[in-house]
Amino acid sequence: MDKLLTIISEHVCAAFTAAGYDAAYGRVTVSNRPDLCEYQCNGAMPAAKAYRKAPIQIANDVAAQLADDAAFSEVQAVAPGFLNLRLTPDFLAKYLEQTRTAERFGLEPDPKACTVVIDYGGANVAKPLHIGHLRSAIIGESLKRIQRFFGNETVGDTHLGDWGLQMGLVIAELQERQPELCYFDENYTGPYPTEAPFTISDLEKIYPAASAKSKEDEAFATRAHDATVMFQQGRPGYRALWRHIMNVSLPDLKKNYDSLGVSFEAWLGESDAQPYIPEMLRQMDQKGVLVESEGARVIEVQEPTDTKEVPPCILIKSDGATLYATTDLATIKQRMETWNPGRILYVVDKRQSLHFEQVFRSARKAGLVKPETELRHIGFGTMNGKDGKPFKTRAGGVMRLETLVAEITDFVRAKVEENNLVTGEDVENTTAKIALAALKYGDLMNAPTKDYVFDLDRFAAFEGNTGPYILYTIVRIKSILARFGAWEELSIAAPETPEAKDLMLALTRLPDALELAYRDCAPNTICAYIYELAGFANKFYHETRILAEEDKEKQKGYIALIALTKRVLETCIDLLGFEAPEKM
Ligand code: ARG
Repeated sequence: MDKLLTIISEHVCAAFTAAGYDAAYGRVTVSNRPDLCEYQCNGAMPAAKAYRKAPIQIANDVAAQLADDAAFSEVQAVAPGFLNLRLTPDFLAKYLEQTRTAERFGLEPDPKACTVVIDYGGANVAKPLHIGHLRSAIIGESLKRIQRFFGNETVGDTHLGDWGLQMGLVIAELQERQPELCYFDENYTGPYPTEAPFTISDLEKIYPAASAKSKEDEAFATRAHDATVMFQQGRPGYRALWRHIMNVSLPDLKKNYDSLGVSFEAWLGESDAQPYIPEMLRQMDQKGVLVESEGARVIEVQEPTDTKEVPPCILIKSDGATLYATTDLATIKQRMETWNPGRILYVVDKRQSLHFEQVFRSARKAGLVKPETELRHIGFGTMNGKDGKPFKTRAGGVMRLETLVAEITDFVRAKVEENNLVTGEDVENTTAKIALAALKYGDLMNAPTKDYVFDLDRFAAFEGNTGPYILYTIVRIKSILARFGAWEELSIAAPETPEAKDLMLALTRLPDALELAYRDCAPNTICAYIYELAGFANKFYHETRILAEEDKEKQKGYIALIALTKRVLETCIDLLGFEAPEKM
């Protein structure tokens, strides 16, 4: 379905032609003075130069051509040569009725739709999820849904950190606590027990203890390092322990992501990329891109056009160890072989941008991807506390995600109970939905690259630019619709009031907001749009007696309009990754 702006532009372009001017001058934009008009065309100004005429004369000529156009209720040529336009109520209603009945509100899928892998979450196994992983999960989930909305096949891959030093730390600490376990006995030939020798709450204590110890106790740090190497080289007892760590951690991680409304199609990790490394290195050797540098094997990625230094990407260190970049490159190979994606998005802290620059350049040099494969790092900023520093617990530690979610939930529950929004069983359900909306909207309303301040009072407010305000708008419409009855078949009617027209015009701007969010990987565009839309919806609601309206035809039009508004808002928050409760 064509966008409204495209259609209006066609009308105005035709008028330019009919008046004897080039059609190209007829492009229409949304008015930046909504008090004066709804749309405007500024083409008479550049046309004036080309035709050596006064702009107002050209604007007048074009306005005369549009005088009988059924699309416009008002066409005004104003000095120095603007064309101010307003739509007829009927034209607007017909257009929006098409939007209402079309699939996906008439939005076309991307003609270049492909398979898209979204690398987000990025939790590190055995370490508690902390709020640094929060933004990746929230932004990544939204981007995945936006990619899918535009017709792409999507694979969310959480790319677990399951191969690093944290594993060696846990193993070394466990050995101190329970040296008698068979996993540490080199002469033991198995089989290993199926039960893990620890629970998740043990594990939650083991890692922080080990991490702290390794900073003070050098011998312990060496043991952890050695254990990491031995585990990576495949020592059976350590591999068995690793499987226990994974088995105990994964359900806990899933539970955490569930509570955030975040889910993954693939639960692969760094470990899954390891088998691809030898073949990848052979491939790189064959291409001749792998070079020797101070005993290490690297790929040079500096380009003549670079204004800053881009250091070589190290694949193998001089001691034979592989690195984070090696794993990321092997993961690209694995992804190409498994899903053959046309695009891979990495939703990772922006402080890792140099790493991804090196990895992407190396992947291209080594031919791991096709020339047209898009590799894109969506780098995000830090969530700060009110002091402007990275968000911490009151005690100054790194806050665990679980704790943060619990704090928000308690805060919202108190509000729900205090205001008697719902009762009984509905309390938990409504609370959870509002809390998630507060958290996610508070994050997503900012451009991903920006740092932002976590402010619970502000995020959870029911008024202002917040998630709960959007939910409140939806719930209010739901309650009117429920009292009205069947609304699904009702058609959009011509607007009779300025408030109705404003709301309708706002609804026609949906495609622009979504396309921008898609193109720029910017969910904040959707937030800005629904905040504006919700504002118009609430104004309409305040100025219109909907349920008390006696003219039944008029009333049906009102109902159709708010029903469409509700569906648009619901679609948008689904793309952001949360949903509205029934009541609040
Ligand atoms: N586990 C990493 C971290 O905590 C994030 C992983 C990001 N994804 C990637 N393909 N490197 O920093």
